[in-house]
Amino acid sequence: MKFFIDTAEIDDIRDLSKTGLVDGVTTNPSLIAKSGRDFIEVLDEICAIVSGPVSAEVTATDADGMISEGLKLAARAKNIAVKVPLTMDGLRACRTLADDGIMVNVTLCFSTAQALLAAKAGAAFISPFVGRLDDIGQSGMQLIEEIREVYDNYDFSTEILVASIRHTMHVVEAALIGADVATMPPDVLRKLAQHPLTDKGLAAFLQDWEKTGQVILS
Ligand code: E4P
Repeated sequence: MKFFIDTAEIDDIRDLSKTGLVDGVTTNPSLIAKSGRDFIEVLDEICAIVSGPVSAEVTATDADGMISEGLKLAARAKNIAVKVPLTMDGLRACRTLADDGIMVNVTLCFSTAQALLAAKAGAAFISPFVGRLDDIGQSGMQLIEEIREVYDNYDFSTEILVASIRHTMHVVEAALIGADVATMPPDVLRKLAQHPLTDKGLAAFLQDWEKTGQVILS
């Protein structure tokens, strides 16, 4: 399973990239607004740090506008994945950009039917938003299961990029289903490494080691 981080904060991207666990980055207009920074500048900085796919979202709502914006964004770096919304215009833009050899991430997916359309439109990634479905009392993970089944039925190469992740169990459940990618806030990635028994065990080992009076490096 690939791990993307869902942020436009350069410090987090730089810090987590050092672990070798970051396979890509996703941004959206809200995350760019939160950063308070210039979109293109942030994108350039992210692409200089991360070699995997970096999602950059268009803001036009008509297909021609999305295509023009997508071409501009894709020209910034080879690893840009242009993010388009799951609308009929977005699907049309997806087909055109994909035919041009550009990776497209179709975002704001909330149903299996929508995911099927994105795969047919040549999307490199489909982004189902699990947290937002859970928020309204529907099962985000059931959607991931259904998309996995449909994509496997037809050997679609579109990767399932689980988005709107709120906690570590979303990542684990998505991995159990066989989703291709999970994009998560930086803190969720950090929390995946944490366990109270790890902390307790480490403290005990260090306490016992200190009693020996030894050092590994002198
Ligand atoms: C990522 O591609 C999505 O834009 C993001 O995961 C949405 O997350 P949110 O529902 O927490 O805003």
